[in-house]
Amino acid sequence: MTHKTILVTNALPYANGPIHLGHMLEHIQSDIYVRFKRALGDTVYYVCGDDCHGTPVMIKAASRGITPEELLKEASASHRADLAGFLINYDNFYATHTPENQEISSMMYLKAREHGYIKTETISQLFDPKEQMFLPDRFVKGTCPRCGAKDQYGDNCEVCGATYAPTELKDAYSTVSGAKPVLKESLHYFFDLPKAHDFLYDFIRNSGVLQSETINKLEEWFKQGLKMWDISRDAPYFGFKIPDTEDKFFYVWMDAPIGYFASLKNYCSTHNLNYDDFVKPDSKVEMYHFIGKDILYFHSLFWPATLMASDQRLPTKIFVHGYVTVNGAKMSKSKGTFIKAETFLKYQKAESLRYYFASKLTSAVVDVDLSLDDYMAKVNSDIVGKVVNLASRTAGFIHKRFGGRLSSKSYAPEVLGKIAEVKTPIIEAYDSRNYAEAIRLIMGLADEANRYIDRMAPWSLAKIEGEDEKLHEVCSDGINLFRALITYLAPVLPELAGKASDFLNDPLSLEQVTKPLCDHEIKPFKPLYQRIEKSQIDAMIEASKEDLKDQQSHNQKNQSAEDKPSEYEPLAPEITIDDFVKVDLRVGTIVEAQEVPEARKLLRLKVDLGFTVRQVFAGIKQVYTDPQALVGRKVVMVANLKPRQMKFGLSEGMVTAAGAGVPDIYLLSVDSGAKNGDRVH
Ligand code: MSP
Ligand code: ZN
Repeated sequence: MTHKTILVTNALPYANGPIHLGHMLEHIQSDIYVRFKRALGDTVYYVCGDDCHGTPVMIKAASRGITPEELLKEASASHRADLAGFLINYDNFYATHTPENQEISSMMYLKAREHGYIKTETISQLFDPKEQMFLPDRFVKGTCPRCGAKDQYGDNCEVCGATYAPTELKDAYSTVSGAKPVLKESLHYFFDLPKAHDFLYDFIRNSGVLQSETINKLEEWFKQGLKMWDISRDAPYFGFKIPDTEDKFFYVWMDAPIGYFASLKNYCSTHNLNYDDFVKPDSKVEMYHFIGKDILYFHSLFWPATLMASDQRLPTKIFVHGYVTVNGAKMSKSKGTFIKAETFLKYQKAESLRYYFASKLTSAVVDVDLSLDDYMAKVNSDIVGKVVNLASRTAGFIHKRFGGRLSSKSYAPEVLGKIAEVKTPIIEAYDSRNYAEAIRLIMGLADEANRYIDRMAPWSLAKIEGEDEKLHEVCSDGINLFRALITYLAPVLPELAGKASDFLNDPLSLEQVTKPLCDHEIKPFKPLYQRIEKSQIDAMIEASKEDLKDQQSHNQKNQSAEDKPSEYEPLAPEITIDDFVKVDLRVGTIVEAQEVPEARKLLRLKVDLGFTVRQVFAGIKQVYTDPQALVGRKVVMVANLKPRQMKFGLSEGMVTAAGAGVPDIYLLSVDSGAKNGDRVH
C-alpha cells in the first residue's frame, strides 16, 4: 500500500465560549481518525485553533471590561487544556487572530479581486447612533409588524412566526445601547458566488469530496439559487481590515476557514516544512475537513469558491457529522446536560467518552445520543469487563507460576487466528469512519476470547497436577488476545494502550498484531481502568447545574457593575389606576407544558385559572428547555387578553415574565397561599 500525506482539520471552536461535549464529538472523531491513519503508516498533519473574530467576541470582552486580545488568551488556554485532557493530539492549535491568518486572508482576497470575484454595493442598514455601530439583525428588537408582539428580533417574530427585514420593525431599538436605530448607507464588499456556480456544481457532484446525503442538501441550495456573499462589516468590528479600505473588516466567516492554513503555516515555519507544498493547486497532500452539519454551507460552497478564486488547492474530503444529544434531548443547561469539557474531566475519564462516542459514530450525518445510563453500562461492561479483565484473569498465573514469561507455544492457534480474521474488516471500518462497526468487531473478538478463557478455566487448571504446560499456554493466549484487542482499540483509547504497551513490553503495532508474543517477558499486572460509578455521573450533572448558576451570577455582577441606565427599558407613559384595572391579572397553575416542535421559541401551556383552563403559547422555549419542570408551577397571567388564532392553535392569554428576552426570561411566581383564579391588584 502506498502511504499518503494528509492534512486533517477540525472546525475551529468559537473563542467566546467554553468547549462542551458537543464539540468533543468532532475532536474525538477526528483524533481517532488521525491516530488510525498514523498507525497505518500515513503521514498526517493535524491542525485546529480558535475562531477569534466577530461581534460576539467584541461585545463579550467589552462587557467584562477587557480587550478582545485578553479574552482570546483566556479562551486559548482553556480550550487547549480541555482538548489535551481529552487526549486530542493536535500538531498545532493556533488561532485566526494571527499574523499568518491576516497575511493569507489578504492575499486570497486580492487574488479573488484580481480574478473578478469581488463586487461592491451600497446598502442601507440600521445603525446605532449612540454606539456608532451598524447593527446585525440579532442586535435589533422591536414590535412585530404583523402581529404587534413587542420585543421581537430583527429577523423574525417569536410569537406569530413572521419573517421580515429589521427595517420593518415598529419602535425598533438597539439591544446594545437601547437607542433608536437610524438607517444609514454603507458600502459593502461581496464575493460573487453566482459567478462560481458552474465550478461549485461540478465540485459538489463530481469530485467525491462529500457524503451522498450532504450532496442532496446542497442540491436544494442550488435550486434556491446562489446569492452574492456579503464579506464586509463596518467598524467597529473585531477582525482584519480589508486591504485598500479604511474602515471595512472581513466578516468572521471569510477568514475563519483560512485559519486552517494559518495554523498549518505556523506549524511549517517551526518544523522545517514547505507550506506551499500543502496549498498549491496541484498539491499531492490530501486535505480532510471534519465539520458539523450546521456549517456545511460555509465549507462546501463559500470555502471552495474562495479557494478556487484565489488559486489555492481544494479540499479532498469534507466529513460531516450530526449533533450530540444527551439522554435523548438537546443538551440543556437547566437539566445539567449541557456539560462542559472541563466539568466532564473532573468526574470522568476522557477515554470513557472517547469509547462511547466511537461505539456510536458512523459515516452517516446523524445525531449521536449520549445516554448516560447506557454510557456507564457500556464502558463498564466492554472496557473493564471484557478487555482489561482478560489480562487480569491470566497475568497473575504468568507471574506466579512462570516467572513472568509467556509460553513459546499457543494452546489454541485457531482462537488466535481470529485476530487475523478481523484485521482487514476493522481497518476498513476505521478508514470509512464507521467506528461503531470497528468497535462491534473488536468486542466480538473480546467475547470469543473470554469464552475461550471461561472454557479453559485456568483457575481450575492451576489446581491440577501435571497441567502446567496447558495452563501456561492458555494464559499466554489470553495475554496475546488482550494485546490484539488493545492494539485495535489504540486509536480510541490511547492512554490505556500506553499502559498496556508498558505492561506487555511491546510497542503494540498494527503490523505485528497477528504475530503473537512468544517466550516474551511481561511486567506485573496493575489495574488498568476503573469502573464508572453512578454517583460520579450524578455529581457531574449537579456540577453542570452549578456551572449554570455561576454563569448567571457572573452575568448579574457584570450588569450591576456597569450600571448603565441605557440598559434599562425606557419607562412607558404614565397611566391612571383606571388604566391599570383594565388589565385582569390572575394567578394560575401550569398543568401541562409541551414543546411546539415547529416553533423554535414556543411552548404550549395549559394554565388552570380555577374557573377555567386556558391554552397559552409562550415564547420561552429557549430558556425553559425542560417543559415538564414547569408543570405544577404557579404563574401570573393576563386573563382578559383578546384570544389570538396562531398557526399552532388558539392562544387565550399571556403568561407574565420579567427580563429583556433570551436568555433573560424569568417567569413571575406568587407566594404560597394564593389560589388559582385570584386576581392580582
Ligand atoms: N467557529 C465556527 C467554525 C469555523 S471553522 C472554519 C463554529 N464554531 S462552533 O464552536 O460553534 O462549533 C465548532 C464545531 O463544533 C462545529 O463543527 C460544530 O458543528 C460542532 N458542534 C458544536 N456543537 C455541537 C453539538 N452539540 N454536537 C456536535 N457538534 C457540534 O461553528
Ligand atoms: Zn408577530
